[in-house]
Amino acid sequence: MRLTARDVSYTYPRGDHQVLAGASFDIPAGTSAAIVGPSGSGKTTLLSLMGHLLPMQKGSIAAVDDAGVERPLSDTASWVLQTVSLLPDRTAADNVAVGAYSDGADRAEARVRAVETLRAVGLAGHESDAARILSGGEAQRVAIARALASHRPIILADEPTGQLDARTSSTVLDAMIGAHGQRTVVIVTHDPEVAERCDLVLELRDGVIHERGRL
Ligand SMILES: Nc1ncnc2c1ncn2[C@@H]1O[C@H](COP(=O)(O)OP(=O)(O)O)[C@@H](O)[C@H]1O
Ligand SMILES: [Mg+2]
Repeated sequence: MRLTARDVSYTYPRGDHQVLAGASFDIPAGTSAAIVGPSGSGKTTLLSLMGHLLPMQKGSIAAVDDAGVERPLSDTASWVLQTVSLLPDRTAADNVAVGAYSDGADRAEARVRAVETLRAVGLAGHESDAARILSGGEAQRVAIARALASHRPIILADEPTGQLDARTSSTVLDAMIGAHGQRTVVIVTHDPEVAERCDLVLELRDGVIHERGRL
């Protein structure tokens, strides 16, 4: 699934400035893109517009399938939000299973995917831990596993490695970028090592995107 944005502008209703001022980009199907930029540059705003968490004011963002047909991101993307939210009294595996249920897996299939994706993010052995006893970094990885368990073609992740050390961060990137090669992955990050792992680096500055190259 290709992702394309054209002239996206956005001002918060009570905001004092235009956060996005005609941002455009193309992310080819099956590639990974890092969105980088200083704090407050609009990275979360852009991702929120992509996921329909904010209403579009000007411009367009679309997911386009291999046949050239536009598909709503609400059906094609799964999310890792900047603020991790899990069901605190349910196990790590139950939380991840929610991602699998969201695209139609039955109980048995959801369980298999939960075990698989928890292992992929380095949390084998934590399947039965209640979410509320997990550390911040573990909870963040459960949220990533939940998104991976959905098998949707697009992953949108906001600072998914923000609470992880370098080694764990690398494991998680393997899981996000390496797995299911046809996925399109968008990662907001301020970590240069994360950006370096992505095929494409899109820098958000003064409300517009500057493409920093393709590896
Ligand atoms: N709900 C809001 N209302 C008004 N201004 C906001 C709101 N959310 C974010 N902003 C402002 O929009 C700008 C971009 O924020 P954000 O997209 O969160 O940046 P980033 O994720 O790059 O740090 C910042 O100046 C921030 O203060
Ligand atoms: Mg942000």
